[in-house]
Amino acid sequence: MTDDDTLASFVAVPMFEAPAAERLEAGIRDYVWGGAGDEHTLRRNSTAWSERRLAPRTLVDVSSIDTATDLLGMPLEHPIVVAPTAQHRAYHPGAEAATIAGAGAARALYVQSSLGSTPLVEVGRAAAQAATPWLFQLYIQRDRGFTRELVAQAVAAGARGVALTVDTPSLGARDRDKRNQLGRIDGYTYPILAEAPVAADDVPAHRRIYNPLLAPDITWRDLEWLVGVADVPVLTKGNLRGDDAARAVDCGVAGVIVSNHGARNLDTVPATAEALPGVVQAVAGRVPVLVDGGIRRGTDVAKALMLGASAVMVGRPVIWGLTVGGAAGVQQVLEILRTELEMAMALLGAPRLADLTADLLWD
Ligand code: FNR
Ligand code: LAC
Repeated sequence: MTDDDTLASFVAVPMFEAPAAERLEAGIRDYVWGGAGDEHTLRRNSTAWSERRLAPRTLVDVSSIDTATDLLGMPLEHPIVVAPTAQHRAYHPGAEAATIAGAGAARALYVQSSLGSTPLVEVGRAAAQAATPWLFQLYIQRDRGFTRELVAQAVAAGARGVALTVDTPSLGARDRDKRNQLGRIDGYTYPILAEAPVAADDVPAHRRIYNPLLAPDITWRDLEWLVGVADVPVLTKGNLRGDDAARAVDCGVAGVIVSNHGARNLDTVPATAEALPGVVQAVAGRVPVLVDGGIRRGTDVAKALMLGASAVMVGRPVIWGLTVGGAAGVQQVLEILRTELEMAMALLGAPRLADLTADLLWD
């Protein structure tokens, strides 16, 4: 844990990375930091944002900056969302309750992973206590009856929407985890999916491509089924293609999240900053488009909105904050991004989110 003074010295999100790495044992650190294959996309996820240059307007009254937005009927103070990440107990004893408290203090929307370390009822309680709205990230299970029950439990616990992860039908080539012989983060439980009926996988580990908790048989029919049975808006998480995103909207989704899963699945897919414009064009304003992957600065958030995103999600930075400072660390990471976004908006001559238009990109 970091004392308040040390935490206060972290004035930018990238500054949380090294202290977080020091605090985690090697297998967990590799699990969080790692990407698929040779990690080409992992590197590009960040550089693709920093390579976009800005073209600020001048002589605009920026004495009042407004980052407020509305997502799926939820009024938000800013467009920075906590991405769903597995097993927060591995990073801090406070686990998801600490993350949710930090998200609430930072007024950020929170997305709960199916592979969290905290039961859904407790997630709901923590979110209610922190007064932060939350979505449930769903991994459809092979047993669709169980899946339907799971969604109902999440909604009963207070989830305001379901983000269906569509980019993970199987495992990616995560060399670091294989080298560490890291199973499902050994020694940790997954209470949300504890009752999921799973078939034993007797394929030798080095030949395995499937995971018992990742259904490889999901199709568009399942998406239509989910939209029909969920009593809350459904989003897809993991679209990179415009045609897939448009088809998801045709299936009734209320939002699309452009994501390559933090470059953890298929190496050499585009960075999300590269994929975002095509999805925005194909969706054509029918539903909000969110994006995650490599967002580390307020200028990255501003660029995502200029490229048509309604909001962004951050994954690893939240884990870094949780690891070094618990709820306070999560709050600080999110507040740094929000403050940097406000600063960028002022310096760009864009006092409202709607003013963050594509002509503010130099290229
Ligand atoms: C993830 N991500 C993820 N996504 C998802 O849909 N369900 C999950 O359980 C997880 N778990 C998870 C664990 C860890 C350790 C990481 C780093 C990521 C992906 C996550 O939601 C998001 O797409 C990326 O993390 C965004 O990229 P950045 O912000 O980490 O660069
Ligand atoms: C991961 C899975 C849990 O990215 O989504 O590790």
